[in-house]
Order: sequence, then structure tokens, then C-alpha cells
Amino acid sequence: MKLDWKDTYKTGDAEIDAQHKGLFEDVAKILATKDRDSLLLCTMALVRDTRAHFEYEEKVMRRIAYPQVAEHFKDHTDLMAKITAFAENIANDTLSHADVEEFVTGWLVGHIKSFDAKLATHIWSFYPNWNYALLEAKDA
Ligand SMILES: [Fe+2]
Ligand SMILES: [Fe+2]
Repeated sequence: MKLDWKDTYKTGDAEIDAQHKGLFEDVAKILATKDRDSLLLCTMALVRDTRAHFEYEEKVMRRIAYPQVAEHFKDHTDLMAKITAFAENIANDTLSHADVEEFVTGWLVGHIKSFDAKLATHIWSFYPNWNYALLEAKDA
């Protein structure tokens, strides 16, 4: 199976979009991997990139005082716990390839289409010229 990034996943924050694309690439590598050792390595990369991505996204949400920040944070926390458990199951060799596909495609696209899409609507509605990097540079 193949998992593609789509323009409809854009959020209004260029860095979030770049990070989401990176997560899709991590997932594509996981889906193309058959042996357990490389699967574990690819999953560790997904865990690392997901953690960094969530930290950045949470920084943006705080910066714009996003009203649904609590629910969004909670989903991030739940997903991190799931990804970590998933990596452990790979290490223990207790997952089938079908489980892997279902998990990585489900959580990534599921979260982007629900929680991140709501954040995107908020950014576009209230900050049409949003540029976080520029804002940070001004504050420095
Ligand atoms: Fe998110
Ligand atoms: Fe995200």
C-alpha cells in the first residue's frame, strides 16, 4: 500500500506542513520495510520525528492561544504512548505487517484530518498571513 501527502493536508504553517511530509516519508519507509531490525530503526525515526513535530505544533498552538489546545495536546500524548508501545511490539516481534500498515496509516492521516485540520482552519481564519519563523525572528 502507498500513503501520499496531499495538498488538502496543508495547515497554513509551512513548518508544520514540512514536518507532516517528513512523517509521511517515515511511514513510507516503514511500509516498505520487511525485516524486523530495519522496521525497528524506521519506527525509532518515526518516534523521534513525531516527538519533535508535536513539540513544534504545541508551541504554535500556545503562541496563538488556540482554544482547543487541551484536546489537541491530549491526542498528541495518546499518540506518543501508542507509537512507543508500537515500537516495543516491533522489538518483541509481535506485530504483523498488516498491523503495521493499519497503525501507521491510521494514526497519521486520522490525526491530520481531524485535530490538525481544525488547527489549520483556526490559523487560516485568524492569521491569514501566519509566519511563525518571522514572528520568532522579530521577538529575538
Ligand atoms: Fe497535531
Ligand atoms: Fe501535526
